[in-house]
Amino acid sequence: MKITLVNFLPSLALFFSFAAAAETASPEMLEQGKYIATAGDCVACHSIAGKAPFTGGLKMMTPVGAIYSTNITPDKETGIGEYSYDDFARALREGVAKDGHHLYPAMPYTAYAKINDDDMHALYAYIMQGVKAVHQENRKSDIPWPLNMRWPLALWNTAFHDDKPYVADATQSAEWNRGAYLVQGLGHCGTCHTPRGIGYQEKSLDQHGEHFLTGGTLEGWHAPDLTGNNKTGLGGWSAEEIALFLKTGRTDKSAAFGSMTDVIEHSTQYLSDADLTAVATYLKSLHPAAADVATTPPVDATTAALIKGDISTPGSRLYMDNCSGCHRLDGKGYAKTFPSLAGNSAVLSDDPSSVISIILRGGKMAVTRDAVTGLAMPDFAWRLSDADVADLATFIRNSWGNKAPAVKAEEVKELRKALPTPTEKDQE
Ligand code: HEC
Ligand code: HEC
Ligand code: HEC
Repeated sequence: MKITLVNFLPSLALFFSFAAAAETASPEMLEQGKYIATAGDCVACHSIAGKAPFTGGLKMMTPVGAIYSTNITPDKETGIGEYSYDDFARALREGVAKDGHHLYPAMPYTAYAKINDDDMHALYAYIMQGVKAVHQENRKSDIPWPLNMRWPLALWNTAFHDDKPYVADATQSAEWNRGAYLVQGLGHCGTCHTPRGIGYQEKSLDQHGEHFLTGGTLEGWHAPDLTGNNKTGLGGWSAEEIALFLKTGRTDKSAAFGSMTDVIEHSTQYLSDADLTAVATYLKSLHPAAADVATTPPVDATTAALIKGDISTPGSRLYMDNCSGCHRLDGKGYAKTFPSLAGNSAVLSDDPSSVISIILRGGKMAVTRDAVTGLAMPDFAWRLSDADVADLATFIRNSWGNKAPAVKAEEVKELRKALPTPTEKDQE
C-alpha cells in the first residue's frame, strides 16, 4: 500500500488506539477473535492429535517435499510471542514471517489476505491473549537443499499473489458480500475446491476467474464443484441444504466425508446461521444454471433389476453383498443416517477420486453440535480388489438415474498407494 499523509494520519490514530488495546483486549474482542480463528480453521493445520492446540507439527506435502506447520501459540521462543500486530498481519496477508523468510503457500495467506483490518486485529488479540503459550520446537522441512531455499517464493508471490483485503462489490447485497468475504478469505474454500495450475497456484481466487471453486483433488479426495452449475455443481442443492450441510455435516441426501468432515467439525459448524446463509447465497450465485434448464427426473431401472435378483450388470452383485444393507437397493439410503447414492453430487463428480477413496478407506460422519452421532462406513480396501472397487464405483455412478464416467482399475491402484500408513492414520 502506498503511504500518503491522508491515509497515514488515520492509521496513526488506529495504531495508538490498538497499541493501548494490546495491553488487554476486551472480552468482546477476544470473542470476535476466537470466531475469526474458527472461521479461518487455524487449528486444522496448526495442531496434531495428542499435542496442545496451535502448537503446529502437521506434516503437509508440497511438490518439492514435506513441510511442517509451525507453533503459533504466543510462546516467545518457539511460537509467535514476539510478533507485533504488523508482523502478524504481514504473515497472514503477504506470507512473510517475522524474520523475513517467505512462507510456503501451504499456509493459505493467498486467501487470508482478504481478511479486513478489524477482524485481523481481533484475531491477533485472540491468538496473543486467548491462546495458551506452549513451548514446542518447530520441525524443519524435509525438503533437501537447494530446493529448500525460500527466495523463489518471492517470485511465486509476484506471479500469483494479490495481497489486497476484500473489496465489497457495490452491485451485490450485503449478504452476498459477507458470503464472498468468508468463502474467498477466512474459509479458504478454494484451497481444496479450486483446481491448481502449473505452479501449484489456485487457478482463480474469486468469481471473476472461470476456475474458481470448480473442483480440485487433494490427498486422494476430490472436493467437488461448488458453483451453482446444474450438471457438475451445487445446482441441485437449495441454499438451505448448503447451510445445513455446513452446520451439521449432513442433509437428507448427502453426508460430509473425507477432508470435508474436519472442515465441518472444526470450523463451519460454529458459524452463525446468518453467516452460513451468506455463504450459501454467495455459492448459489456462482455460474448459476440458466433458470429454464429443465431437469428431467431420472429413470430408475436399477432398483427393479436388483429386486428381481438380476445381477447381470458388473458391480451389482458386489453392491448387493457389501453396500445395499445401508444404502438400500434403491440407492436412496436413509435420510441423515446413510447418504443417498442416487443423485448425490459427490458421487457424480467427473473426478472419481472421492468415490474410490471412500470405498477404500470408509468414513465417519462429522460429529457436530446438532448431529452428535458419527455413523461410520467400513473400509473395504482389504476385502475388495482394484477391479472390484472399479466395478462398484462404475455401478453406483451409473445406477438409479446417475450418469458419470466409468472408473478404471488403474485409478483405484493409484489411490490405494495414497492410503494413510498406520502411523499417519494415528495422526489424523
Ligand atoms: C491449510 C493449512 C493452514 C491453515 C488453515 C493455517 N495455516 Fe498458518 N501455516 C501453515 C504452514 C504449513 C505454515 C508454515 C509455512 C512454512 O514453514 O513455510 C504456517 C505458518 C504460519 C505463521 C508463521 C509462523 C512462523 O513460523 O513464524 C503464522 C503467523 C500462521 N501460520 C498463522 C495462521 C493463522 C492465524 C491461521 C488461521 C487464520 C492459520 N495460520 C491457518 C499452514 C496453515
Ligand atoms: C481441506 C479441504 C477442504 C476445504 C478447506 C473445504 N472443503 Fe468442502 N469438501 C472437501 C471434500 C474432499 C469434499 C467431498 C466430500 C464431501 O462431499 O463431503 C467436500 C465437499 C463439500 C460440499 C458438498 C459438495 C457435494 O457436491 O457433495 C460442500 C457444500 C462444501 N464442501 C463446501 C465447502 C465450503 C463452503 C468450504 C469453505 C468454507 C469448504 N467446503 C472447504 C474438501 C474441503
Ligand atoms: C454400515 C453401513 C454402510 C455400508 C455397509 C456402506 N456404507 Fe457407504 N456410507 C455409510 C455412511 C455412514 C456414510 C457417510 C460417511 C461419512 O460421512 O464419512 C457413507 C458414505 C458413502 C459415500 C459418500 C456419499 C456421501 O454423500 O457421503 C459413498 C459413495 C458410499 N458410502 C458408497 C458405499 C459403497 C459403494 C459401499 C459398498 C462397498 C458402502 N458405501 C457401504 C454407510 C455405509
